[in-house]
Amino acid sequence: MSKLRDIWKTTSRPEEVADTAFLRALPKAELHLHIEGSLEPELMLKLAERNAVALPYNSVEEVREAYQFTNLQTFLDIYYQSAGVLLNEQDFYDLTWAYLLTCHEQGVVHTELFFDPQTHTERGIDIGVVFDGITRALSDAATQLGITSGLILCFLRHLSEQDAFECFEQAKPYLHHILGVGLDSSEVGHPPSKFERVFAQARDLGLKAVAHAGEEGPPSYIYEALDLLKVDRIDHGVRCLEDEALVERLVEEGIPLTVCPQSNVRLKVFEKMADHTILQMLDRGLMATVNADDPSFFGGYLLDNFQFMANDLAMTRAQAARLAENSIRSSFISGDLENNYLEKLKKVIA
Ligand code: ADE
Ligand code: ZN
Repeated sequence: MSKLRDIWKTTSRPEEVADTAFLRALPKAELHLHIEGSLEPELMLKLAERNAVALPYNSVEEVREAYQFTNLQTFLDIYYQSAGVLLNEQDFYDLTWAYLLTCHEQGVVHTELFFDPQTHTERGIDIGVVFDGITRALSDAATQLGITSGLILCFLRHLSEQDAFECFEQAKPYLHHILGVGLDSSEVGHPPSKFERVFAQARDLGLKAVAHAGEEGPPSYIYEALDLLKVDRIDHGVRCLEDEALVERLVEEGIPLTVCPQSNVRLKVFEKMADHTILQMLDRGLMATVNADDPSFFGGYLLDNFQFMANDLAMTRAQAARLAENSIRSSFISGDLENNYLEKLKKVIA
């Protein structure tokens, strides 16, 4: 559809800093969101009580106070602990539904969300319980909120290749519920090459592939994700800017990067939002998108991330429109649905 190329170039008042109403109205796709990372402290405490799970916190304030991270691992330790309150199908439903209601408020029209089955199965929870709760909420969101979605099963890279194969085996009865596989958790020391064979099996079954790479890990991990895992998108990827040849390749091949600005600030990949390079990535022609990663832990959902960028990076209306357009083009939707979202975008920015 040639008339739908580079819609962002038609933005009215392109140089103006984007305001909240404009940012909310943009139809946005979210492509990097860990559903376990959207567990708000209020729901965490409620589920802890409902399921008689002990937590080291007595109040919402105490939970929020604990969210002071110095790097990815200090976050992951708390993130995995908080997931311990999720036991039953209804818990996974409540978690997912709460996220989808926020999507609805923030103009997120499509979401491709990650989940970490191993975090739950290693606590003895059947993978079917996890699938059932999440997919019931996604289906309700389609009918009640008009939000379209997909699910991406992430392997935990700090666990072994064999663990990943076992997880994939358990997921096989549910493969019709997922778009693809991903790779998350502690990056440094766990290169993509460790998961080459399980990704090959997933791709052979027709699944898409994505992987976290270049968040804390070096550019070589991005090359491995592309060459060995043959991913369709790179999650984060901000460290690609350290390697000129890599940037050129990502631009040439149009590989989407699902960047998470507020996450990067909270996990000290960048010291502050004003230092974030996402707008430079756009200027270089990279297919960058904005995402929330783990919104309840990092203090902001997708619209909040856009707002932080307008405030601290003086992001313009044209840049915001470009990021929204990139998000729709980088998603795994196609055909009429993709065109409908692009048409909607065109009207909003006119
Ligand atoms: N799991 C949840 N959030 C993550 C992130 N930002 N990086 C790696 N693994 C994660
Ligand atoms: Zn992530």
